[in-house]
Amino acid sequence: MEKLEKIYEGKAKILHKTSDPDLLIQYFKDDASAFNGKKKGTIVDKGVMNNHISSRIFEYLEENGVKTHFVKSLNDREMLVKNLEIIPVEVVLRNVAAGGLCKRLGIEEGRIFDEQPVMEFFYKSDPLGDPMINECHVDVFGWATKEEVEILKSAGLRVNKLMVEFFKERKIRLVDFKLEFGRHKGEVLLGDEISPDGCRLWDWETNEKMDKDRFRFDLGRVEEKYQQVYDLICAE
Ligand SMILES: Nc1ncnc2c1ncn2[C@@H]1O[C@H](COP(=O)(O)OP(=O)(O)O)[C@@H](O)[C@H]1O
Ligand SMILES: [Mg+2]
Repeated sequence: MEKLEKIYEGKAKILHKTSDPDLLIQYFKDDASAFNGKKKGTIVDKGVMNNHISSRIFEYLEENGVKTHFVKSLNDREMLVKNLEIIPVEVVLRNVAAGGLCKRLGIEEGRIFDEQPVMEFFYKSDPLGDPMINECHVDVFGWATKEEVEILKSAGLRVNKLMVEFFKERKIRLVDFKLEFGRHKGEVLLGDEISPDGCRLWDWETNEKMDKDRFRFDLGRVEEKYQQVYDLICAE
């Protein structure tokens, strides 16, 4: 598939057109950012690891009936995806208290939600710092239709169930994660990436963090932990 001009460069990835208007190439960079872009750095070979991790997880989700933008992996840093009209609503699923939830609500980190996950919506806007929103905002401001919101919710819960299982089999606890969806030919597909950049992953036994929190909070051994996640998921 021929790579044509860049159409978007974000914080972690670059999107390129292809000769097929329906398909894009998603290139994964090593750039890391946190706290709404205030902290910037590099995680060596993150792009390679996140591309392979995301590809494997999209394949797994597709095998289990989740519709995603993933077409195929092209090489170490690139995947071919369907061109989506991204819905500017980030869907966050939480199985264990961590991060912003603890900060906002005073819940102690590590509390396990065994009855049901917590689902949250955020407005995807860099200038506004991705503020938390609710369904009423999504409806009134027209970011998604009511029908689309129902799909975001059901797909979010389904993906959570599948991913909790997937990571548990690899002795990793899926603490929380962020999903992005987009419109494609009348359907809503899961887009973007699923990697340690957008998931909190803790070692099942020790609770050691294996995700971007190591970069956010200068915990050290960032590459080593991404590599461990990569090995557990991709070296099967
Ligand atoms: N299949 C797709 N079609 C169109 N846009 C996509 C697709 N998958 C992801 N995107 C968008 O491309 C961008 C990916 O690059 P990223 O570095 O994550 O950007 P950002 O800094 O905006 O988060 C995101 O804005 C994401 O919403
Ligand atoms: Mg992004």
